[in-house]
Amino acid sequence: MNDLEELIRAEIVERGCIPFARFMEMALYHPQYGYYERAADQTGRGGDFYTSVSVGSLFGQLLAAQFAEWVGQLSQPFGSDNTKFQLVEAGTHDGRLALDILSWFQQRAPELLSQLEYWIIEPSTGRRSVQEKTLKTFVPQVRWFSSWSAMASQSVRGAIFANELLDAFPVHRFGWDAARQIWFEWGVTWDANGFQWIRVADSVRAATSDPRQFVWPEIPQELTAALPDGFTIELGPSAEAWWFQAACALGQGKLLTLDYGLDQEAFFAPHRAAGTLRGYHKHRLVSNLLANVGRQDLTAPVNFTSLQRAGERAGLLTERLLAQAEFLTRIAEKAWADPSRFGEWPPQMKRQFQTLIHPEHLGRAFRVLIQSRS
Ligand SMILES: C[S@@+](CC[C@H](N)C(=O)[O-])C[C@H]1O[C@@H](n2cnc3c(N)ncnc32)[C@H](O)[C@@H]1O
Repeated sequence: MNDLEELIRAEIVERGCIPFARFMEMALYHPQYGYYERAADQTGRGGDFYTSVSVGSLFGQLLAAQFAEWVGQLSQPFGSDNTKFQLVEAGTHDGRLALDILSWFQQRAPELLSQLEYWIIEPSTGRRSVQEKTLKTFVPQVRWFSSWSAMASQSVRGAIFANELLDAFPVHRFGWDAARQIWFEWGVTWDANGFQWIRVADSVRAATSDPRQFVWPEIPQELTAALPDGFTIELGPSAEAWWFQAACALGQGKLLTLDYGLDQEAFFAPHRAAGTLRGYHKHRLVSNLLANVGRQDLTAPVNFTSLQRAGERAGLLTERLLAQAEFLTRIAEKAWADPSRFGEWPPQMKRQFQTLIHPEHLGRAFRVLIQSRS
């Protein structure tokens, strides 16, 4: 049993069992032993999974070209000669995407670089120091905030974005009890064979998680009547709350996420009866999500419908929800038409583009939600 497993076990012994969301939070984000706090590379060939960023620098360059176009559409703040705009990234991880974006501005749109402020929302001090090293040449441009509230009343004029952030947020797991026609929460307990799934008793659930934090999906009566016993769904209230806060921070411009996710009704497809939570280790799906704690990735697709509603509650307009392939192809087509923005693509850039848009790689499963405030 590793140190993190010991800590989780102690919490279970004290509380009887813990909601899965708490287990996932500790497994991924424990400040000392959490999966994302380790020095090791989690993404790319040597890690556990690929992200669009780990494919190469083209992804960041395409995003930067899109941001430059959007920034050109911002209106001037009334009565002000301050032409600054902000790009705000969260889930910055090792800072590679930030570096690719800032380098593109430096090389291809230097006239905008002096107006650009790159803000990073990073709760982890360990991750922040990794990012500071990656971005050392752009230090005057970059500012870190530990949370949305640390930004106080400063509002963003530009774009707020994240790549594969929200699918790494802790989720609660619920199962359908067909006999009682109610959802029960899956928790985690421990026995001599390791961590085990357990149905959280209603009384324990009331004491450990606040039911008011869940916006339950609207499920038609006919669907619940047909759901098989044990049908499992995941709900991510923290992702939705994060999106709402981001939406509130946006004064003018775009809010976008590029992520692995589904529309709400897709969570109820018969082939997803066992839920959508996944674990990855060395590019393979793991069979036991509760094993190897802190050493394997845990992830669940985002619910784009609930994000969309959260943004709209904060006054944003939903512009598009589209496949990553379509989003990046549109940007690339504009870039090809204006060689000053990109120049000739060498073969390795063409290969990166194929990987980013290929339906079997990152093109179809990854989608882009864009909301805006004008
Ligand atoms: C799957 S990785 C994605 C990394 C990177 N964006 C990429 O595409 O390669 C998720 C990252 O989000 C970070 N993260 C998790 N919760 C966060 C939060 N509330 N605010 C900012 N970053 C967070 C994790 O520490 C991790 O570095």
